[in-house]
Amino acid sequence: MNKITIETLREKKKNNIPITLLTAYSFPLASIIDSAGIDIILVGDSVANTELGLESTRSVTMPEMLHHTKAVRRGVKRALLVGDMPYESYQLDAFDALDNAKRFIEEAGCDAVKLEWFEKCPEAVDSILKAGIPVMGHIGLTPQTADKIGGFKVQGQDAKKALQLIEQAVLLEGLGIFSIILECVPDILADIITKKLKIPTIGIGAGGSCSGQALVTHDILGLTKGRKAKFVKEYADIYGEIQKAVKSYKLEVEQGIFPSKEYSYTMKEEEAGRLMADNS
Ligand code: KIV
Repeated sequence: MNKITIETLREKKKNNIPITLLTAYSFPLASIIDSAGIDIILVGDSVANTELGLESTRSVTMPEMLHHTKAVRRGVKRALLVGDMPYESYQLDAFDALDNAKRFIEEAGCDAVKLEWFEKCPEAVDSILKAGIPVMGHIGLTPQTADKIGGFKVQGQDAKKALQLIEQAVLLEGLGIFSIILECVPDILADIITKKLKIPTIGIGAGGSCSGQALVTHDILGLTKGRKAKFVKEYADIYGEIQKAVKSYKLEVEQGIFPSKEYSYTMKEEEAGRLMADNS
């Protein structure tokens, strides 16, 4: 299979071929997702919730993101690998954006970085793009600044806010980003943005007319328990499968079923005899 490039994604949008994006935070899942043919693998800051047990994506640090991204890099051979810039790496001071973006590329081997919209987003994005690093934008529901946009809610449901989102998308495309995530926006708005932009739009909770779709891998696998957003479709119950396996293991150990002879090592009879004689 050919390596996915930014050009591949452009061609897919041009030819109306849907683009697929999933998140990964570890070597094994990255290898599985990559071998299944997903186009873009995002090391999302959602690692905060899915793997680190943190409440907010805002809490994940740059060293933690690099640690997970390096593991994912080892498992990805074909997909485009995008590193999600954590809050502290560009929103505390937009001047930090370029140095931290470089670390995702040079230390962790990413093909591109992703930044969420915030008030200084254009400056941060521009500095990264001018250094030749490809950038993916992210507008709509931006979890890192959920407190400033009314919480974890659908965005752009009134015309004024919808127009602002269109302006953000157009502005970011003008700066030179290669793709944009539209999170939790009405499908009609995502359709307008997708038609307006030349670059591919990737929707997560943005309906079916985006150039591609994104979901968090832990959500599609049913690895996370608790309330799910409306846009999440579970394709498996891995939580249940793991729990079943763990319970079987516990029961078999407690009942002396495991390990049976099949899972144990043996010794030649004469050696065993000598050993027994020395220890009787
Ligand atoms: O961090 C993440 O998983 C994301 C996706 C929701 C696109 O940003």
